[in-house]
Amino acid sequence: KKLFYLVFYCLLLLKKACYHYFLYVVVALMFAYMICLYMDAEGLQSATLQLQLTSECFRAQRNSCVHSARNQKLLRDLGFIDESFKLLRFLLHNLHLGIDAIFEPLRCGIQFLGNLGVGNPSCQDDIWKLSFPDVFLQLLSVADDKVVNYTSMVLHTCLDEAKVEDLSKPQNIALALKVMELCRTHPDVDWTVLIATQHFLKSAALVESMYSQMGHQERVTLLELLQAQLKEEEFEGCGIPPSVARFLAGSFQTGCGAVLSLATGSSSDNEEALTVISLLDVLCEMTSDHKQFMFLQDQPDLLVNTVVLLQQVHAIGKASKNIFSPAQNFSSFSGGSDSSPHSPVISFKAHLVRLIGNLCHCNTNNQNKVWIFRSVEVRN
Ligand SMILES: *[C@@H]1O[C@H](CO)[C@@H](O)[C@H](O)[C@H]1NC(C)=O
Ligand SMILES: *[C@@H]1O[C@H](CO)[C@@H](O)[C@H](O)[C@H]1NC(C)=O
Repeated sequence: KKLFYLVFYCLLLLKKACYHYFLYVVVALMFAYMICLYMDAEGLQSATLQLQLTSECFRAQRNSCVHSARNQKLLRDLGFIDESFKLLRFLLHNLHLGIDAIFEPLRCGIQFLGNLGVGNPSCQDDIWKLSFPDVFLQLLSVADDKVVNYTSMVLHTCLDEAKVEDLSKPQNIALALKVMELCRTHPDVDWTVLIATQHFLKSAALVESMYSQMGHQERVTLLELLQAQLKEEEFEGCGIPPSVARFLAGSFQTGCGAVLSLATGSSSDNEEALTVISLLDVLCEMTSDHKQFMFLQDQPDLLVNTVVLLQQVHAIGKASKNIFSPAQNFSSFSGGSDSSPHSPVISFKAHLVRLIGNLCHCNTNNQNKVWIFRSVEVRN
């Protein structure tokens, strides 16, 4: 224990003396090795000092990498990445002991890897090899917001097109799903949203594979991010491939009947119905002024299915007093929170009409198809 106090003191002194110098980093490395040798699970209970020391080492390495390609290369060549992962795995493995002091070295270690990876593809590849997908998944599941935030940052730093394809493979999809879950549960962590919008949405393979395995709440989150992305980058191309649009149109056509369950007020299917509503919003956006998605006008049966759904919704609304009724009194409707004036259900019919309009815009063939359904009335 005395030895550790001594080492800790030396380190603090050195830190003051030569914070930005390489010597400090080498010393830190040596101590990191020592910690690996001396720490074991039983010792950890009384190892606050060792944990502090580990944080200190990681912090030094983290700071030395900022804006320094030379230090990044040096640390990589010296095998720091490998050693850091050994330490991180060790810490992760002992999280169940419930020692609060364990989070700080974990945070600093992840930040170090993040800084190491910034702008350095070789480091990114090394980090990826050592952490994908299990370590990333474990770190994103740690009950500490900072650990989750910094891990998302590392993941974002490492991602490129090839790695996104890796993620879409069935054995790795859990990691992508975890990121999407975090987008919903931790909306304040910007990195996960950036991962989704800048990387995930650009891969049709990943979007399809995530969508088919997600719960409805996550689907709604994914669709909201898509919607935001479509609006944000309207003029410079949003990077969403046409096959994603085709896939979503197909999902809407297969699932749209679920929305009719809202009329009966049964809450069990509400989530699925809300997914359909979000799908409709995205399709409306895609077919308004987005040239790359106008091929949706020719998507088989999309127009007919939408018109039929509008007729069904209309008929249900007329048959009894429910959420689809034209002159409904929202405040008296018994459907609970879904009947608030802000409910997405309220604009559902309007959006169906908008989609039909978009699909017919400058398209004589579709206009003629709708003519057949001219008995459709929309009063709402
Ligand atoms: C996440 O980390 C970044 C730095 O990487 C920081 O700017 C941001 O405030 C953090 N966000 C949260 C929610 O902790
Ligand atoms: C709507 O219902 C509420 C509560 O049942 C009632 O107080 C209100 O007067 C109704 N409004 C209309 C316009 O019918």
